Amino acid sequence: MRHYDRRAVLAGGGAFLATQLSGCAQSTAAIDRGRLRETRIGGLPITLTAQERPVRLPGASAPTPLWLYGEELLPVYRIRLGETIDATLVNRLKEHTSVHWHGVRGPNAMDGVPYVTQMPVQPGESFAYRLTPPDPGTFFFHPHCNTAEQLGRGLSGVLIVEDADDRFDDDIICVLKDWRIDKNGGFLPFITAEGAGRGGTFGTLRTVNGQASPEIAVPPNANIRLRLLNLDSTRVSDVGVQGADARVIAVDGNAFDGFVLDTWRLGPAMRVDLALRTPAEGGKITLLDYFAQEPVTLATLVADRAASPRARGTAALAPSRVSNPDVAHAESHELKLSASATPSDYPDLPPIVLPDGHKIDVLDSLCSTTRTLWAIDGMPWPQTGHEHLPPPLMTLARGTTVRLQLTNTTPHMHPMHVHGHTFKVLSASKLKRPEHWADTVLVLPEERVEIAFVADNPGNWMIHCHIIEHQDTGMMGWFRVV
Ligand code: C2O
Ligand code: CU
Repeated sequence: MRHYDRRAVLAGGGAFLATQLSGCAQSTAAIDRGRLRETRIGGLPITLTAQERPVRLPGASAPTPLWLYGEELLPVYRIRLGETIDATLVNRLKEHTSVHWHGVRGPNAMDGVPYVTQMPVQPGESFAYRLTPPDPGTFFFHPHCNTAEQLGRGLSGVLIVEDADDRFDDDIICVLKDWRIDKNGGFLPFITAEGAGRGGTFGTLRTVNGQASPEIAVPPNANIRLRLLNLDSTRVSDVGVQGADARVIAVDGNAFDGFVLDTWRLGPAMRVDLALRTPAEGGKITLLDYFAQEPVTLATLVADRAASPRARGTAALAPSRVSNPDVAHAESHELKLSASATPSDYPDLPPIVLPDGHKIDVLDSLCSTTRTLWAIDGMPWPQTGHEHLPPPLMTLARGTTVRLQLTNTTPHMHPMHVHGHTFKVLSASKLKRPEHWADTVLVLPEERVEIAFVADNPGNWMIHCHIIEHQDTGMMGWFRVV
């Protein structure tokens, strides 16, 4: 009755949490093949211990020294809308780290960006994150300096904020993530000169939920929600399903007035939620990536009576709670995404003051750039040795609607992410997409994409490419809402 167990987990998180904390960790596969372990944490404090743990990845002859938040690869935490996250990061790594809650419109002091919203959490230190996400949806969390290595080694987790009316017969998470390992499980360099200057360095092993094309049991003849998250540092996928009709019901966690899925281009950090009707007992649904020479099977959903429905309901999500941008009266800015060969120095700026009062003069080497290859608006993130923060790309009065044109002058794709705000994707010159809410938008080579949002969250917020090598080599900036 393995599936019964998982439903019990979802229904009675307290007991499950107690089991997990007492150390009786079972492997995910023993509970639910293909699924990640989930924990319901609403109102309960959790500890995210950043630490090295050996894990044997598929096909490797020896374990890989992963960096995890705790003992499990890709922990999944669920809360209900209105509940608070009370998470203490404990740093047991040999370098500093932090936790950024990607896509959550939280307070600036909880945004987890070293030197921009908080001081780095040094080895042996801890930091308490407390925030109440204002929106339901599919989110994730990860560190924000030396990200190519920290995320590349696995340091990330999933956060699901459930809406009271979002009821499906089952709710399945699929995390797409590649690993850069050799046959013996050792890591290959996370940043390469060839990759960083182009589309990024690709992993050598593709996984979904840490497994190579897993089979996931789903209830037959059921309405299910499939949450796809691209947590890879580099790879853009074009996801589609075979064996069922799927509707896109949310993008980056934001409810979408469902339309039939053909394929959806999912860049690093992007999420898409699908509603599917599962086939009769024994039937299969295949999840594919079409952004390849031959379609790649990411995972297979297998209808299995043992996976009995956990809830009954319809598939309608509540509409987005984000304030609608008044596009006609917006302040317009263009941000050019470009290559840059010149390191920049930003000497004479007043220091930025963190929400906790710290004054920032310089960044350390983990938070500055190793090599300057990319820029936003001609300004690369500062390079080691030139480590003053660049000036803000924009300063916006609180409440302003801003209309941003992201102009890609490069021959590479850039999934651009804005912190602290959810924006509306208004138009794009190449890839046609319906107007939708997002926190990360893929900008194709030479494409112009227009987004708009209400700058209603005060603080200093990052905007950057989520191809981590681009971010780590300069395509990163920040703006201020006052
Ligand atoms: Cu997912 Cu600035 O991050
Ligand atoms: Cu990029």
